[in-house]
Amino acid sequence: MLIFSDISSIKPHLNKLKKKGNIIGFVPTMGALHNGHLSLIKKSISENNFTVVSIFVNPTQFDNAKDLLTYPSNIKNDISLLKSISNKIVLFNPDSEEIYSDGIKSQQFNFNGLDEHMEGKYRQNHFQGVATIVSKLLSIVEPDNVYFGEKDFQQLRIIENLVFEKKINTKVVRCETLRDFDGLALSSRNSKLSFSSKKMATNLFKALNFAKEKFNSLDVVEIEKKVIEQMTAYSEIKLDYFIIADEEKLEPSILKNNLKYRAFIAGYISGVRLIDNIKLY
Ligand code: PAF
Repeated sequence: MLIFSDISSIKPHLNKLKKKGNIIGFVPTMGALHNGHLSLIKKSISENNFTVVSIFVNPTQFDNAKDLLTYPSNIKNDISLLKSISNKIVLFNPDSEEIYSDGIKSQQFNFNGLDEHMEGKYRQNHFQGVATIVSKLLSIVEPDNVYFGEKDFQQLRIIENLVFEKKINTKVVRCETLRDFDGLALSSRNSKLSFSSKKMATNLFKALNFAKEKFNSLDVVEIEKKVIEQMTAYSEIKLDYFIIADEEKLEPSILKNNLKYRAFIAGYISGVRLIDNIKLY
């Protein structure tokens, strides 16, 4: 597996591959790779000739300095995992100094309202930071296909919107959320949970399943009320939000129109912030 840490060496390598007619897939990550990432990477490997995986803990998407400092990182383990999967992977592990050569700050994007609720409301400037790094990485890698997980569904919609608005010549591929046997959505942050907190965290998935089960028989307001009651019964859970919103515009709705809806949940489990969502159709 080839590993690049600067733009001036990865670009000519990718250009050479593209000139030979190779199709390039791209999976951007912040490392601490788990099976969720690996499923995106394997999907990309099956659909492209080469897959670029980036590992870069992006400072501009953290609204909280402590969260950035304590974000899990294990580059040695990540490299051996990637090596064990395929020799068609190209790893890009750049430095902050090169990526943010003009200073560590976000560019400003208009997300057409997609950032108004949920993560956009609870994490100030988070999506400006995500869009900044993803557009920088896309302009370096220039992939045919880029892979994003549905666990971060709002992020996925924002990237789809960015690629559309900026007319970027890359297809965004949606990948289903991978879950543990007990339903907990795989996330790098799960490594910060104790055994009992992990068990407690499965209540987020249970709440989403409850919403899915009751979506056709109960009013949205009633579902939301019941989920909030269920969550506040656990002292270890501090709920940020539980919202039912349409997939396209991500507007919270108490009415059921002829749209595709998802239930979204976010909260702290013993101090670790987790998010999850489920489709209701
Ligand atoms: O989902 C993530 O891991 C990050 O937000 C991303 C897309 C790699 C950008 O830093």
